[in-house]
Amino acid sequence: IIQTLGNSNQQYEPDRSHTAGTDWDPGRAAVASAYQRFEPGAYLRNNYAPPRGDLSSPDGVGPWKLRCLAQTFATGEVAGRTLIDIGSGPTIYQLLSACAHFEDITMTDFLEVNRQELGLWLREEPGAFNWSVYSQHVCLIEGKGESWQEKERQLRARVKRVLPIDVHQPQPLGIASLAPLPADALVSAFCLEAVSPDLPSFQRALDHITTLLRPGGHLLLIGALEESWYLAGKARLAVVPVREEEVREALVLSGYEVRDLRTYIMPTHLRTGVDDVKGIFFAWAQKKVGVEV
Ligand SMILES: C[S@@+](CC[C@H](N)C(=O)[O-])C[C@H]1O[C@@H](n2cnc3c(N)ncnc32)[C@H](O)[C@@H]1O
Ligand SMILES: *[C@@H]1O[C@H](CO)[C@@H](O)[C@H](O)[C@H]1NC(C)=O
Repeated sequence: IIQTLGNSNQQYEPDRSHTAGTDWDPGRAAVASAYQRFEPGAYLRNNYAPPRGDLSSPDGVGPWKLRCLAQTFATGEVAGRTLIDIGSGPTIYQLLSACAHFEDITMTDFLEVNRQELGLWLREEPGAFNWSVYSQHVCLIEGKGESWQEKERQLRARVKRVLPIDVHQPQPLGIASLAPLPADALVSAFCLEAVSPDLPSFQRALDHITTLLRPGGHLLLIGALEESWYLAGKARLAVVPVREEEVREALVLSGYEVRDLRTYIMPTHLRTGVDDVKGIFFAWAQKKVGVEV
C-alpha cells in the first residue's frame, strides 16, 4: 500500500488525487444542508441523558467509551502539548481523560450552535448541559483521587479556543488556522461517518484531518458502526455505515499504525429509536513517521 521507490527511503501515499478536491459535491452539500436543522439540546438528550447517559452500569455505552479513553491515556504514550478535538459537537466528555495530558486543547465544530453550546459549559453559564456525572465517572475510573470539580476546572482551563471546522476541506481549519499546528494528538468522536455520504468521502475526511497531526502523533477515533441515520431534533442526519474492518483499512490508507481497535455492541435496551446504530468502535492510531499525506 505504501510504496518505497528504488533506493530512496522516501515513502509515498497511494494517489487518490482523482477523487480529492474541494469541488462542489451533491452528497456533501446534502449533509451540510441537513445539519442546518441540528438541535444541540435534542442531540444531548438523545445520547447523553439516560438511558444512554446512565453511567451506573459498566455494561453501558457511556462507561465503555470513557473506559477506552481512560485506559489509552493511562499508558502514558499519548502525551504532548497540543491536542485538537475534531467535530466536538456540543459535548465535552471525550476530553475528560485527555485534559490531564495536554495543556493546549482546541475544540472544533462545523455548526455555530454547537460552538455556542460548548461556550455555555466552558464559561459555566446558565443553561449549560450538566456533565458532572461524566466528570465523576472519569475521576472514579482513573482512580487518581481527583474530584470532579478539579477535573472540570482543568478541562475548562486547557480548552484555549473553539473553532469552526470542515473536515471536507483539505485544510479543515482554513488557511490561516488559529490553532497551533501540527498538533501532537487528535481526538474525534462520531464525526467522520456522520458527515460523510460514502466511504470514499470518509477516507478523504480522514486524510484531511491527518494533515493537522504531526508524524508520530496519536489519533483517538470513536464512531458508530453500521449506522445509517440519527436524529437531532428536527434534523435527520444520514450516516455512512462502516464496519470495523473498513475503519482499520481507512486508518492504514491514511498512514497510521493501528495500535488498538475495539468494538462495543449496542445492547437492545440502548437501541432507543434515536438512530439505527449497531455498535461503537474505538481506535487508537499512530501517524507513521516519514509518510507524506
Ligand atoms: C454526531 S455529532 C458528534 C458530536 C460529538 N463529537 C459527540 O461525540 O457526540 C457530529 C458532529 O459533526 C459536526 N459536523 C457536521 N458537518 C461537519 C463537517 N463538514 N466537518 C466537521 N464537523 C462537522 C456536526 O455539527 C456535529 O457536531
Ligand atoms: C450538576 O449536577 C451536580 C450533581 O450531580 C450538582 O452538584 C451541580 O451543582 C450541577 N451543576 C450545575 C451547574 O447545575
